[in-house]
Amino acid sequence: MPQPIPVSDLTARQAKVEHKRLAAQVEAANIAYHQNDAPVMDDAAFDALRLRLVAIEDAHPELKEAASASAKVGAKASGKFAKIRHRVPMLSLDNAFTDEAVAEFVQRVHRFLGRKEEDPIAFTAEPKIDGLSLSLRYENGALVHAATRGDGEEGEDVTVNARTIAEIPQALAGPDVPAVAEVRGEVYLGHADFAGINERQREKGLPEFANPRNAAAGSLRQLDATITASRPLRFFAYAWGEMPELPAPTQSGVVEAFGRWGFRTNPLMQRCESVEALIAHYRLIESQRATLGYDIDGVVYKVDDLALQARLGFVSRAPRWAIAHKFPAELATTVLEAIEIQVGRTGALSPVARLRPVTVGGVVVTNATLHNEDYIRGYDSKGERIRDGEPPDIRVGDTVTVKRAGDVIPRVAAVDLSQRPVGAKPYVFPTLCPACGSHPTREINPRSGKEDAVRRCTGGLICPAQAVERLKHFVSRDALDIDGLGDKQIEFFHGDPDLPVKEPADIFTLAARDAANLKKLKDKEGFGAQSVTKLFAAIEERRTPPLNRFIFGLGIRHIGETNARLLARHYGSFDALRAAGLAAADPVSPERQELDAIDGVGPTVVEALTDFFGEPHNEELLDRLLAQVTPQPLEAVASASPVAGKIVVFTGALERMTRDEAKAMAERLGAKVAGSVSSKTDLLVAGPGAGSKLKDAQKHGVQVIDEAGWFDLVGG
Ligand code: IVH
Repeated sequence: MPQPIPVSDLTARQAKVEHKRLAAQVEAANIAYHQNDAPVMDDAAFDALRLRLVAIEDAHPELKEAASASAKVGAKASGKFAKIRHRVPMLSLDNAFTDEAVAEFVQRVHRFLGRKEEDPIAFTAEPKIDGLSLSLRYENGALVHAATRGDGEEGEDVTVNARTIAEIPQALAGPDVPAVAEVRGEVYLGHADFAGINERQREKGLPEFANPRNAAAGSLRQLDATITASRPLRFFAYAWGEMPELPAPTQSGVVEAFGRWGFRTNPLMQRCESVEALIAHYRLIESQRATLGYDIDGVVYKVDDLALQARLGFVSRAPRWAIAHKFPAELATTVLEAIEIQVGRTGALSPVARLRPVTVGGVVVTNATLHNEDYIRGYDSKGERIRDGEPPDIRVGDTVTVKRAGDVIPRVAAVDLSQRPVGAKPYVFPTLCPACGSHPTREINPRSGKEDAVRRCTGGLICPAQAVERLKHFVSRDALDIDGLGDKQIEFFHGDPDLPVKEPADIFTLAARDAANLKKLKDKEGFGAQSVTKLFAAIEERRTPPLNRFIFGLGIRHIGETNARLLARHYGSFDALRAAGLAAADPVSPERQELDAIDGVGPTVVEALTDFFGEPHNEELLDRLLAQVTPQPLEAVASASPVAGKIVVFTGALERMTRDEAKAMAERLGAKVAGSVSSKTDLLVAGPGAGSKLKDAQKHGVQVIDEAGWFDLVGG
């Protein structure tokens, strides 16, 4: 074998070529090892590759900068751990970015509970730790399970790893430890420990972690728990899942109990009784941020009284009783090197800024969004300036400010005109779709009459970029969630002549087609026997997807997760939804009335649904897909409740609960709440002052009860 050229002798060009090759090999080896559990080389060979890569990067730092965005470790670990279903879902938090948004949150809480503004409600305020959440299940005081958040419903079983964390008690102490206690909190790394870990990564020639959160995630989700044990992970307890007997009636009281049981709790948690007090505590925490020794990205406010928390409940995936007040975004200045156009699933042409690499808040950023063509031009469709105090437009070559807030995609926020190079030309937005050549248009919103800021490709089903994006969406985490079938694999299959995947149904025929092919997938680059077997098994597993995920995965415009769930719950089966979506195209049909009456479904959604189901191509595509998969109806939520599946309308004044609360309660019990009465309505709950809805109910022969009757019925 020829000796490799010493790194110091490589020309810049040679270095670039070799760097690219080595980086690809290392990445492939990483994927093979971590994601597919099928190493393609031994440790010594891997180390040699890495060392040479690092040596080249040291000699040619510009290569390192360009590559570092993709060299982040620990970002992904799929299918390595067993899954654990959370008995109580792990939710996320809504965000507030301004003091005003915090005041609005507090007002919303008051309004929902029907409390006067001057009647104070207590909140807790505590740091939002920038780590990863973990749910610990204790039975009779002993740790039995640890699970990551995952998608909130199902996480990964990291019990063995969690047991190596010193700050996670193996057993809980104290007289008031309940028989079942699921304690939740954040796993994180301190700044000093993070620096130490990266130093060791460097010494070993391994890639460094981008920030403490990635390092914590990478350390916890290790197949080899001895690696987890070697990383000084820490844990703050701040929430809980299943816990039938609570040690206190307040948020602060339960967290205090966690302290007694052996957990670390955050010393900066405080009880506050006004918006002013919350904001004051936020400022205090913000002022200590730099010296805490660990990353925080905001302050979380929670209603303290647990009875009030229970009344407030949840919307979609976030509690109504809590909010995260985020710290302002971090900024950096760099040069805009190019503008590229990406075509999204719905045809939206999105301009993406390619940037000279710059570190923003500890992460190397090379891409940022430029939103839309108006944003680049600096004027909206009415000719109003979009950004104040700056030159109006953004040009390639400009020095720009990049903003990054937490997990949000970085964005180009401002331009420095004084640095604009001579000869920089205004950017011309493409007049043809870069993927299919169709003419992109800007839609006019029928209600506002305003032109949409987004230019969309009109190629629809013929546009390959849209097709690929739709497929990526179909298999994505919140949709069908097929392990081992990510963006890269979809792109591969879409372009593969032997096993093409052009539409969702094709995914489910992959295994059969591969079996019939002479050229096997396992022999292709990037695949191996084991990973192909795993992929096909993961696909098989998804032939019976939950109905809401299936509906969401179709990528119908305006049907996000919440609407998908709403529709799944309302219609119960895909056939019923499909029939309704077809029939509802007739504006006077009963199906249309039913759709219009679903609370939360507005005219835009109705139009999107009728458009989707009315399109003959979609009909054929659905027929082919449904020959492969059978969506499963949502588990009958609270099917034991007397109002499960019923269509309920509330009208008139209610005394024991606010209208919002009534609606949330009915939905929790499995009812569908509608805004108007039709022949489909099962029940009208009418308080004093009920008017036309009461008359409609009488006309349609709908059962009418009052608020007291409602509580009798639902037993509260
Ligand atoms: S409470 C039902 N408190 O933030 C709400 N979350 O954006 C449960 N987080 O997934 C979360 N510090 O990983 C809560 N003091 C804190 C937190 C916190 C960090 C994380 C947590 C959650 C995410 C939501």
